[in-house]
Amino acid sequence: GRYAVIMAGGKGERFWPLSTSKHPKQLLALVGDKPLIAQAVDRLDGLVPPEHVFVVTNADLVDATREAAPLLPPENIVGEPIGRDTAAAVACGGALVKAKDENGVFAVLTADQVMGDLDIFSNTLKGGMDLAEANDILVTIGIKPTYAATGFGYIESGADFQAAEGVAFKKAARFVEKPDEDTATEYLETGKFFWNSGMFIWSVQALEKAFGAHCPEMLELMKTLTGYAADGKIIEGMEATYPDLGKISVDYALMEKADNIVMACGTFYWDDVGAWPALESHFDQDAAGNTPIGTVETLDAENNIILSKDHLTAVIGVKDLIVVQAEGVTLVCPKDRAQDIKKMVVSLRENG
Ligand code: GDD
Ligand code: MG
Repeated sequence: GRYAVIMAGGKGERFWPLSTSKHPKQLLALVGDKPLIAQAVDRLDGLVPPEHVFVVTNADLVDATREAAPLLPPENIVGEPIGRDTAAAVACGGALVKAKDENGVFAVLTADQVMGDLDIFSNTLKGGMDLAEANDILVTIGIKPTYAATGFGYIESGADFQAAEGVAFKKAARFVEKPDEDTATEYLETGKFFWNSGMFIWSVQALEKAFGAHCPEMLELMKTLTGYAADGKIIEGMEATYPDLGKISVDYALMEKADNIVMACGTFYWDDVGAWPALESHFDQDAAGNTPIGTVETLDAENNIILSKDHLTAVIGVKDLIVVQAEGVTLVCPKDRAQDIKKMVVSLRENG
């Protein structure tokens, strides 16, 4: 059968203080009217039945995730004792699918993205599943880039593989995780590069084969995780194996190494809502370029992103700032330092 595994273990540190370790980004309705995880589940409507959709998150977030995604059977939402990056999350999801169907095909999806043109997305996923069912390949979904983003991985497209209804598939010639801006600019000029959406489709068997060839530790993990532990939130064997696992993303573990990768050319709207500045494309700006969210007043202020959750926030005479009031915290930060918010969160956690 056909399945989906949604990876939702991200800590959402870049949206602090609105997102916190207890309520990370995927559990917030950051963009749209539902938590991002619920939107990820809704996007599978008509393609994968809810009983076939699994979510792999952190053990501490299992209850909150079950609440945020009420359409799914609670036992389909499992938690990892500690985050070991996406290769382990994929192995865990693979084990869940395998327990139901050794010949299953599944899509690996993320919980932190915003998409549009959902009929095209759905068609792309379906085409990828058809191919993954019939071939020993790793399918990845590429997105036509619109700017030299440095926060995404890139896929260089090669020869045509096969066209499904409404979707082109190409061999993936090369895979490069998060290049610097000059490299990304060169990539765009060639017209051959696509963004790696972080969404993958493969059969249980193709995944096992690829892990076996390129990352045996994860094949081992997939074979170890066989049934639910007593609390139903984690899988038996996780607590013993996770601490010793290497921290590696599926991009480094598989996609940079495998040579049987096929890329779907995704033509639907897609964005990874990675940090505060990403909200500018999802909310309206005022005449001075400010993005006010919540109760906000501005005077002679330009190009700021201002979110105020519980009371009025007034901003005068400043520009290019992120100002956020939420969860008893006020943050003021230049937009071009948005990536440093994560550092602040880490240092607060370490120093109390
Ligand atoms: N369960 C679990 N455990 N989920 C995880 C873990 C983990 O240890 N680490 C990350 N995730 C989830 C996140 O919640 C997110 O939904 C997804 O996996 C991707 O992780 P990110 O940490 O957001 O990755 P990224 O955005 O830096 O990079 C990846 O995605 C980009 C597109 O959004 C890469 O695949 C890039 O190449 C890609 O362009
Ligand atoms: Mg991401």
